[in-house]
Amino acid sequence: MKRIVVVGTQWGDEGKGKITDFLAQKADVVTRYQGGNNAGHTVVIDHKKYALHLLPSGILNADKVNILANGMVINIEALIAELKNLNHTDYQLFISDRAHVTFPFHITLDKHEEFLKTEKIGTTNKGIGPTYKDKASRIGIRVATLVSNEFESELRKLIDEKNIDFKNYGLPLIDFDSVYKTYQAYANIIKPLVKDTSLLLNDYIGSGKNILFEGAQGTLLCLDHGTYPFVTSSSPTAASVPLNTGVAPWLIDGAIGVTKAYSTRVGAGVMPTEISGDIAQSIRIKGNEFGTTTGRPRRIGWLDCVVLNYTNRVSGLSYLAITLLDVLSGLDTIKICTSYTLDGKEIFTIPAHIKDYEKCVANYIELPGWHEDITGVKSFDALPVNAQNYLNKITELTKIPLAIFSVGPRRDQTIEVSSIFED
Ligand code: IMP
Repeated sequence: MKRIVVVGTQWGDEGKGKITDFLAQKADVVTRYQGGNNAGHTVVIDHKKYALHLLPSGILNADKVNILANGMVINIEALIAELKNLNHTDYQLFISDRAHVTFPFHITLDKHEEFLKTEKIGTTNKGIGPTYKDKASRIGIRVATLVSNEFESELRKLIDEKNIDFKNYGLPLIDFDSVYKTYQAYANIIKPLVKDTSLLLNDYIGSGKNILFEGAQGTLLCLDHGTYPFVTSSSPTAASVPLNTGVAPWLIDGAIGVTKAYSTRVGAGVMPTEISGDIAQSIRIKGNEFGTTTGRPRRIGWLDCVVLNYTNRVSGLSYLAITLLDVLSGLDTIKICTSYTLDGKEIFTIPAHIKDYEKCVANYIELPGWHEDITGVKSFDALPVNAQNYLNKITELTKIPLAIFSVGPRRDQTIEVSSIFED
C-alpha cells in the first residue's frame, strides 16, 4: 500500500499518534484530515515526550511533509504555540486554504452550551462543535479568508451573528477590534504555509509518494457512525478522508485500525465493557490513562470486539495495530467482549438508538493472562504464549490481520508483524 489511513477503532486515544509516527518513518507525507486541537497524540522519541494536538504526528520526522487538510478546524493561536514548542524549525507544514478557523468565541460557546445541557457530552471545550456548526451554517471563516483582504468584513459579519447568541445567553459581547487585531497578526504568520492542499496531495500521489492520513478521535466518536449524540462533530472514519482532503476515494489503498488491547473512553456516553475497581485502576495507572488534552482520567473497559467489527464494517480495515499490550501483563485472566444482550436477545452490532445501546449487556470470553514483563519484547514469537494467544484471538474474532503491536510508548517498543508500506 502507498496511501494509508490510520483510523481509531474505539473512542479515541488508541495510540494513533505513536503508530503514525512509527509508520511515518516510511512515509513521505502525513496529513491530518478532521477535528482540531480536541485531539491529543502522544509520541515518545529518545525518551522525550511530545503532546501533539493539531500537528500531524509526522512533524517529528524532519524530512516529512505535513498537511492540515480542509476537513480540519484550526485554532491558529494553538497551532502557533504548538509549532514553538517543537524546539525545531526545520519542519515542512502546509495548511489547507479550505480548513475552518476556530476563534476564542467558539470556545466560549462550547463551554457555555455544555454548561447549559442537562445531559452533558463532556466535550474537550476547544470550540470544535461550534466551529463545525458555523461551517454547516455557511457562516464560518476559512483559512483562505483569514489571509485575504476580505477578512475584516467577513469577521465583522460572523461576530455580529455570534453576538446575537452571546446576547441571548447573557454573555459579555465579543469585542470585534481585539479579535481582528490578534487574528490579523496570526494570519501574517501562517500565510506562507497556506496552500490548496488537495492539489498538493494529488501532485504527491502523481509522483508516487507514500502518504499517511492520520485520523483524530475514534470511529465511535464519529458524527455519523458513533454513539450519537455523545460524539465529536467530524468523522474520523476512513470514508472521511476523500471528502476531507480532496483526494478521490479510489486513490486510498487501505486503512490500519488502531486499537488498545483494552478499551478507554473520556467524556460521557455508553461503554458496555466498562469496569471499575482495582483492575480498572491498575490499568489506568499503568497505561497512564489520563487525557492528553484535558487531563481527565479515562474510563477503562475490556476489549470490545463488537466495537472492532463495527469499525471494520464502516471503515474497512486492512490491518490492525494493537497498542498498550504491556499494560495487561500481570492479570490472571483477561476478558474480550464478543456480543451484547439487548432485551434478552444476543446481538453482534451497535444499535443506532443510544437508549438501546445503553441497555446492552456485554457477553465475554475469558482468556488466561500472563505475568511476564513484555516491555522489551522485539518480536511476536518472543511474547509469552498467553499474550500470543490473546492477539491471535482478537484477529480470529475480527478477521483483521495483525500488522503491529506495541509494548510501550517508545518507537523501539512498536513491533511490525507485517509490512504496511510499499518500499
Ligand atoms: P469535542 O470533540 O470537544 O466536541 O468532544 C466531543 C466528545 O468527543 C467528548 O466526549 C470528548 O471527550 C470526545 N473527544 C474529542 N476528542 C477526543 C480525543 O482526541 N480523544 C478522546 N476523546 C475525544
